[in-house]
Amino acid sequence: MCGIFGYIGKRSDATDIVFKGIKTLEYRGYDSWGVGIIPNAPTSSRKAGLRGATTKGIVVEKQIGKIGDAKLHNPPASSLAIAHTRWATHGGITQANAHPHLDCTGNIAVIHNGIIENYDTLKKQLSNKHTYVSETDSEVAVHMIEEKMKALPFSEAVRQTFLACTGSNALVAINAHSDEIVAIRNGSPLVVGYGDNEQFIGSDAAGLLPYTKTVHFLEDNEMAILTKEKISIKDVQTNREKCVVPKTLDQTMQTVSKNGFATFMEKELNEQPDIIHKISLERAHSEKLTEAIHKARGTYLIGCGSAYYACLAGTYLFSTIAKRHINATVASEFTFQEDFINEKSLVIALSQSGETMDIIDAVKRAKTKGATIASIVNVEGSTLWRISDLPIPCGAGPEVSVASTKDLIAKLSHLIALSYGLAGMQNEGSIVLKKAALETRRVIFNKKRIVYLATQFIKKEHIFIVGRGLSYPATLEIAMKIKEISYIHAEGMAAGELKHGTLALVEKETPCIVLAPNDETYGANIAAAMELRARGAIIIGISHTHNAVFDHYIEVADCGPASIIPTIVVGQFLALAIATKKGLDPDKPRNLAKSVTVK
Ligand code: AGP
Repeated sequence: MCGIFGYIGKRSDATDIVFKGIKTLEYRGYDSWGVGIIPNAPTSSRKAGLRGATTKGIVVEKQIGKIGDAKLHNPPASSLAIAHTRWATHGGITQANAHPHLDCTGNIAVIHNGIIENYDTLKKQLSNKHTYVSETDSEVAVHMIEEKMKALPFSEAVRQTFLACTGSNALVAINAHSDEIVAIRNGSPLVVGYGDNEQFIGSDAAGLLPYTKTVHFLEDNEMAILTKEKISIKDVQTNREKCVVPKTLDQTMQTVSKNGFATFMEKELNEQPDIIHKISLERAHSEKLTEAIHKARGTYLIGCGSAYYACLAGTYLFSTIAKRHINATVASEFTFQEDFINEKSLVIALSQSGETMDIIDAVKRAKTKGATIASIVNVEGSTLWRISDLPIPCGAGPEVSVASTKDLIAKLSHLIALSYGLAGMQNEGSIVLKKAALETRRVIFNKKRIVYLATQFIKKEHIFIVGRGLSYPATLEIAMKIKEISYIHAEGMAAGELKHGTLALVEKETPCIVLAPNDETYGANIAAAMELRARGAIIIGISHTHNAVFDHYIEVADCGPASIIPTIVVGQFLALAIATKKGLDPDKPRNLAKSVTVK
């Protein structure tokens, strides 16, 4: 899942435009970055002084790592440029594997998002005629275009190349000898932006907002040819022109700042009490979903990562509050369990980005079986938002930090409101959410104790989190946060499962977090804490009351089923504190990206 940006038009600072554009897309991957520039006046890049540049038609600068405060070294005046930020799938994190990739002549460049699944076969077909300089799947595309241009015009060579590739891909190509950008999508997202004598392309709409609100979200198998004057959209299979009606975005340019916090994650954690409170006041969304669930014969919650943990929590909330069964499945596994999906089924997809490929795939398949698709999505206008019959805004606001926090808490709040709605107890639902908002504010206010605890953990290799019932998905979420930003192996599990294996890993001084809210699971959770203590573990209790078995105790007052929210918030702050103490960047953890657009 990489970030793609491109510009063609009247201005001569195309390089700066695409460089700024790619910075807004760094959440999609930050292993390396690169720009490809067609200078307005053919200059030798040596004179332009760009590091890593070539001396052929297209000037390329690419570097390893995050863009951060990197600056381009006096880029040539240009009215046509592309840029890319990479999340490595094929080939290590090297400068050669960074995009753009050039063909042997240096006059064609491509940037790519996705996986060309048959790249190896294609590479073999071309190998003896072309020199490959990278280990990527993407580079094969530029050599195929080069090869096909021996007989075809540029855009047709790009189209034919794309048709020969399998997998979910978004490909953008430029050619030093033609004033156009050719872009094709099948799976991975692409948006084009219409301007006055200038056109834009990006992996999402947010990066285009500073320049235009008039956009077209490329559908699967659509090709866009951008020239200075216009954008034409074609069907990539038939090569026929398509008449599309551009959309006007109602989003405003949200300059997402840290508001004085050290990191986006910390800022986003502090926004949660207001978000929970706001959702406690909303009714409309849960009423629409309630109606859809009543109509459906079989309702399935699907999501990935943290969003899946919200789905799992949904099954407990629906069962205990609404006395209703609802299924929850990891989206990437749903494909193997959907044989019973039919036109009476309701699939509720949960996603922050709305671009996660595993979810998009699962939803598209369920749609082909006639299922109704509802979704709770944080990015309005995203692919999932657009393909849903009933898209519900999650309302957490832009989430920049890769670790999903306020979005997850907002999803839990929606599911709590929905469960009470289904039981005809909207007011009670609103009351427990208001309580959870207040308690979350109190936990944040008193986070010093959590930060102190973090110092106990930074050298630990393993941390276990246990709980029962609704706390079980909370253990998984807290473990996820600790893993993804502090790089410590953390495992969440149903407390009842401990003695069936994992207990073998617990030894003297192993930190174990026990979630013991004031519900029917309290006694059994304390018993689990005793079992752990008997093996020498350090017990950290997160509970409404202290207990002698706890070596460390973090109070979370009882908010009924909504206690799961402040409990997870304790885990979020713990993970953040450990990462900070280890000097890690919690906003851009290694090997991860905010939106996973590959399978
Ligand atoms: C969570 O912190 C992770 N970043 C990740 O597991 C995330 O929840 C998952 O990739 C799903 O993303 P989505 O909500 O954008 O679909």
